[in-house]
Amino acid sequence: MNSHTFNHLLFHTDSNGIAILTINRPDKLNALNATLLDELNQAIDLVEDNESIHVFIITGSGEKAFVAGADIKELSTLKQDTGEELSLKGQHIFSKIESCSKPVIALVNGYALGGGAELAMACHIRVATENAAIGMPEVSLGLIPGYGGTQRLPHIVGKSKAMEMILTGQPVKAGEALKIGLVNYVLPMDEALDFTKKIALKMMKNGPLALNAAIRAINAAFKNDGFAHEAKEFGKLCSTNDFKEGTSAFLERRKAEFTGK
Ligand code: CAA
Repeated sequence: MNSHTFNHLLFHTDSNGIAILTINRPDKLNALNATLLDELNQAIDLVEDNESIHVFIITGSGEKAFVAGADIKELSTLKQDTGEELSLKGQHIFSKIESCSKPVIALVNGYALGGGAELAMACHIRVATENAAIGMPEVSLGLIPGYGGTQRLPHIVGKSKAMEMILTGQPVKAGEALKIGLVNYVLPMDEALDFTKKIALKMMKNGPLALNAAIRAINAAFKNDGFAHEAKEFGKLCSTNDFKEGTSAFLERRKAEFTGK
């Protein structure tokens, strides 16, 4: 069993070569702050570089949240340039997950909102627990998804459902997520990890070169060039009053009053 020390991640590899990464910031529902994003980036490199790791599982600590999104307190200080930069950085890290040479499975154990849903969608498949709620609430903050959500969600659930989810900002519960193909399976909390490991074991029985080639070939079917556009729009919104109002309202626990300015 290998382990590695991070501030906000728990990382260990079991004797079968399954690496399990747990996003570990439970007091903030595992929200992705700058340190956490950097650590996630390092963890992906660890997985790529370690030949004894065959499958990578990403989950959240606790029983309430996978990841409740990007850290809204940090977001609230962004300007146009720093907003676009952050979006490009998150997109880059999540693209590394999507193009990982080994299968990556998200175990969505509760809320997967905004950047959390985007993280789950960057993984190759998703297993959800019965309490999962997956959504893109960024518009309620005067923002849009910035870590690839506008690009990956339509590929997974189709344009119409993606439009509905992003424009309403309303999450879908586990059952609906299964129905629309956003997750592959839904399991009770106490069975989900064992089930996910069983899928991992089925995958790792196969040739690693073939797994890698399959991931590359499937990803090639879903190439698109909207990521830069998403980052630009994300940055532009960071300079608006609506964004200031939306993020302040969340932090002050009140309803946002948008003016369209
Ligand atoms: N960022 C920072 N802090 C967060 C957070 C986030 N995304 N989500 C939750 N928290 C914090 C809360 O502020 C709270 O902290 P304090 O106890 O210090 O006040 C703690 O986590 C627990 O959260 P709540 O008290 O709000 O828990 P709840 O059960 O009442 O509600 C929730 C749970 C519905 C998930 C609610 O926390 C929520 O709506 N969170 C924000 C979800 C969101 O909007 N995510 C998108 C972020 S933007 C984004 O991700 C941009 C992008 O695409 C890159």
